[in-house]
Amino acid sequence: MAIAPALDLKEEILRLKKERNAVILAHNYQVGPIQDIADYVGDSLGLAYRAQETDADVIAFCGVHFMAETAKILNPEKTVVLPDKDAGCSLEQACPADKLAAYLEEHKEKNYYVIAYINCSAGVKALCDVICTSGNAPRIVNQAPADRPILFVPDANLGAWVMEQTGRKMDLWQGSCYVHVEFTQESIQKIKDEYPDAVVVAHPECTTAVRLLADEVCSTEKMIHFCQKTPAQNIIVVTESGMLHRIKKEVPEKNLIPGPTDHCACADCRYMKMNTLEKLHACLEKLEPQVELPEDVRAKAEISLVRMLEQSK
Ligand code: 13P
Ligand code: SF4
Repeated sequence: MAIAPALDLKEEILRLKKERNAVILAHNYQVGPIQDIADYVGDSLGLAYRAQETDADVIAFCGVHFMAETAKILNPEKTVVLPDKDAGCSLEQACPADKLAAYLEEHKEKNYYVIAYINCSAGVKALCDVICTSGNAPRIVNQAPADRPILFVPDANLGAWVMEQTGRKMDLWQGSCYVHVEFTQESIQKIKDEYPDAVVVAHPECTTAVRLLADEVCSTEKMIHFCQKTPAQNIIVVTESGMLHRIKKEVPEKNLIPGPTDHCACADCRYMKMNTLEKLHACLEKLEPQVELPEDVRAKAEISLVRMLEQSK
C-alpha cells in the first residue's frame, strides 16, 4: 500500500506498532524521522539492554543487521524485523566466523580469551568468550582472566584505544569501520584551527591520530552526556552524521561544528542510512524481513552476550 503524506506514514507506523504489540528500537545513527518515531534511541549497549527487557511481541530494529541479530539472540521467541536486511557493517565483514574459527584452531596453543566487539555476526559471537561495546570495552577487558592472552576482534582501532585505557596487551584482529577511518588528523586539525575554543568528541573507532586530537573518546550514548556536561559552547563531533540529530535534540543550547563538506567532522554510514520510514512501515506491515538464526549458533552467542550484560552492570 502506497502512503503518500509523511504524516499519514507516521500514523500508520504507530497504528501498526500498536496492532503488532511492537517496540521500535533505533540506533543513534538512524535518520531523524526514524529516531523521532522510535520508542528508544541509543548506542549498541543501551539497545541490547532494551532488547533484553522488552515484553513486546515484535521488535522492529532500526540499525544495522548485527544489532537486530543481537536482539534476536536475546529473544529467540520474539519476532525481530529490520527495515533493510542488507544494512551490514564493514567491521562485521572484516571478521567472518569461518576465518576466526580457522585462526583459533591454528593458534590453539595460545588458549586465547576472545573478546568480540558487538559489531560482528552471531557466528563470531558464538566463538568468543565475551562481547563488548564501545560503551563498556575497558570495563569488560579489565574483567578478563589475567592468566590468558586476549584476542580482540574485529576492530583494531577500538582495540588500540582499549589497550591504552586498561594497560592490558591484546592481539588485535585487523578490522576497521570504513566511516571512522576516513577522518584524518589533518581534516580534524583544520576544523580545530577554525574553532580554537571548540572541544572535540570522537568515537573510539577512529584512528589513533584522530583520537589524540579529541578531548573525549566515547560511545555514541556517552557523547550526549559529554555534550551536556562540557562548559564549551562549540563542539566538534567526530562520528557518523546521524549523531548530530540526537545531540541537537537533547542538547539544543550547544553549537555543533559540522565543518565545510571538504573536511566535515561527520560522515554518513551507507548501511545505517539504508533504513527509511517507508521501509520501517513495510517491515511492520509484512513482518519481514525477519532475523532468523540456527539455534546452536544463537544459544552459544547468547552466552557471550549475557556475560557482557552481567559484567557491564
Ligand atoms: P555505539 O555502540 O557507540 O553506538 O557504536 C556503534 C557503531 O556502529 C559505531 O560505528
Ligand atoms: Fe559499522 Fe562503521 Fe557503519 Fe558503525 S558506522 S555500523 S561500525 S560501518
